[in-house]
Amino acid sequence: MGLEPFSAEDPIFEDEDVLRDSHKPEDLLERDRELEEYQSALKPVIKGARPRNIFLYGQTGVGKTVATQLIMDRLQEDQEGYDNLYVRVVHVVCKNLNSSYQVAVKLVNEFRGPNNKVPTTGYPPDTIYEFLWEHLKDVDATHVLFVLDEVDAIGDDDDILYELPRANDNGNVPADETKVGVIGISNKFTFRDNLSARVKDSLCDEEIHFPPYDANQLRNILQQRAENAFVDGVLEDDIVPLAAAFAGQESGSARQALKLLFKAGDIARSRDLEKVKEEHVREAEPKIKESQVRNELESVPTQSHLTLYALLMLERQEDLPAKSSDIYEVYEIAAKRIDADVKTDRTIRDRLSQLKLKGFLDVDEHNEGPKGGSYYLYEFGDIRPDMVEEVLRDVDRLEDLFQKEITSY
Ligand SMILES: Nc1ncnc2c1ncn2[C@@H]1O[C@H](COP(=O)(O)OP(=O)(O)OP(=O)(O)O)[C@@H](O)[C@H]1O
Ligand SMILES: [Mg+2]
Repeated sequence: MGLEPFSAEDPIFEDEDVLRDSHKPEDLLERDRELEEYQSALKPVIKGARPRNIFLYGQTGVGKTVATQLIMDRLQEDQEGYDNLYVRVVHVVCKNLNSSYQVAVKLVNEFRGPNNKVPTTGYPPDTIYEFLWEHLKDVDATHVLFVLDEVDAIGDDDDILYELPRANDNGNVPADETKVGVIGISNKFTFRDNLSARVKDSLCDEEIHFPPYDANQLRNILQQRAENAFVDGVLEDDIVPLAAAFAGQESGSARQALKLLFKAGDIARSRDLEKVKEEHVREAEPKIKESQVRNELESVPTQSHLTLYALLMLERQEDLPAKSSDIYEVYEIAAKRIDADVKTDRTIRDRLSQLKLKGFLDVDEHNEGPKGGSYYLYEFGDIRPDMVEEVLRDVDRLEDLFQKEITSY
């Protein structure tokens, strides 16, 4: 059979875009406490006072970005009722910005026209900060709120999270010219735990935690979206609860729940069916889970990628489960080969426990009797080594390891 004509007919979806990540829901369900905390932290702004700096954290897919967008929209709207108040919001996704310098350049460029951008390299950091302070002093606004979304991308290099929230205090931008506030958003708990004391002090005037959703909450969120996304009557009654239960158990992520619902519908559509059934959700579930795991594997830091690489090599030699000292030996060779920092075995043990927490690894404790002491043996958890390899092969930083492969470590 050859190609079939494209057809706009769709018995399943009325508007599938409603299930997309980029779709902004009209209001946020199941987040009343968080929204209240958030709004109350921003209250000084509407009164014309200096903003409090806010650090927002919680796992992926729990509504941090969408809550921020809705609140900022509302703030922009409501400020119109107040004279002498003009709040400008600068929302930057830091995902690919790996240092404070890169974030600072990006922020400077938010204030510049297309012909006047600063390049991403070349200026000393102090000059970039000077540019930023000048723009902030000159800007035609009483307040500038910086939203630094996915700010964990900057890693340990967190100078900007000290400088920016302190811009008024340090006199770099006098508060009577422009009041500056920062909202930092992160889904990495390790990032929050490892913030330096000075950053904690300046950024975290208010900390707001977004916990994962449970199955009941997800059910309401999905229900609201499903009404506009699907043609009336195509969803059998148990579809939404089932998708909510899977996502609730797995991650508590609304994003995952929405993907699952979409995928189930997509399976039904691809088979020219007129109803989405329970079996479609069950079929979609492992697919969504795998893509979620892949994303997570991709997004761990280089040192964790190297640690996983070491496990992968040992697995190929049939040397798993292995002690952390054996994993470390392979890690060390690999890190040197790609010119990465070689961390201590202690750090790698920390990486191993983080990977275990994420469910990528399993650990078994071994006791050698009263005198022998005990040690841990690591192996891959509920993930296929082949998948780990596929992901690692796509990590640019590890390219050399796979190009000239060493067959035995
Ligand atoms: N309470 C909610 N009501 C309706 N939709 C929601 C709710 N929470 C999250 N969503 C939807 O779930 C998806 C993920 O939410 P969002 O992007 O805000 O997550 P996040 O916490 O920023 O995740 P990440 O840390 O990965 O950036 C979006 O499509 C969003 O619209
Ligand atoms: Mg987000």
